[in-house]
Amino acid sequence: MSLSNNTESPVYQLELTEESFNSFLPDYLKYASRLHFTPIETAKIAGSWLTEAGARRILDIGAGVGKFCISAARYSNSHFYGVEQRASIAKLGNQLAKQFQLQNVSILHDNILNVNFSDYDAFYLFNPFYENLEFAKRLNDEVPLKEKLYRTYFNYTDEQLSKAKAGTRLVTYHGNNFEVPSSYKKERDAFDGNLKLWIKQD
Ligand SMILES: C[S@@+](CC[C@H](N)C(=O)[O-])C[C@H]1O[C@@H](n2cnc3c(N)ncnc32)[C@H](O)[C@@H]1O
Repeated sequence: MSLSNNTESPVYQLELTEESFNSFLPDYLKYASRLHFTPIETAKIAGSWLTEAGARRILDIGAGVGKFCISAARYSNSHFYGVEQRASIAKLGNQLAKQFQLQNVSILHDNILNVNFSDYDAFYLFNPFYENLEFAKRLNDEVPLKEKLYRTYFNYTDEQLSKAKAGTRLVTYHGNNFEVPSSYKKERDAFDGNLKLWIKQD
């Protein structure tokens, strides 16, 4: 147990470590976790970059079980939203947020195509659509995966990010730079260049 530093009144929370987080996952997700979910220390830095200029509503595009949202929210007063297309995984994400007593995390069960990015003021992107190109790395068989869906999701995200106002922050993890619209400029990186902070220009 540890003392919370994300709320004003002190509350005792479960310690958030790779081990404690993984202990709540079913076996197949424990196995997938290293490849598919952001490490806690990385999420902590990404969350701090995303919120240091005042962002209050952060969207994780393809949230999985909410590991980025939970890890970042644990050290922040901003609200971390994740959109996740797999119902069972979104449900588990909300259960985990409860286990870690975080009220500033919401995992929304939906497809990115139904999300209006203007409802958020900063964004996190960790290769969410890649499984449509490499089926072998998929999390489970709950949703259809097709090569052409990669392009559909990619184009929609690109269009929405391009419409964000100047100064909007985006963090990518293990992404290819082509996933970021050319109107964003890279400001910082960490973890051998795998974590990048981008800021929308005029
Ligand atoms: C690599 S995991 C990232 C997990 C999380 N962002 C993290 O860093 O811990 C990508 C997730 O994106 C979800 N995803 C992929 N395409 C999506 C879409 N079109 N709409 C919503 N979620 C999607 C997948 O189901 C998967 O759980």
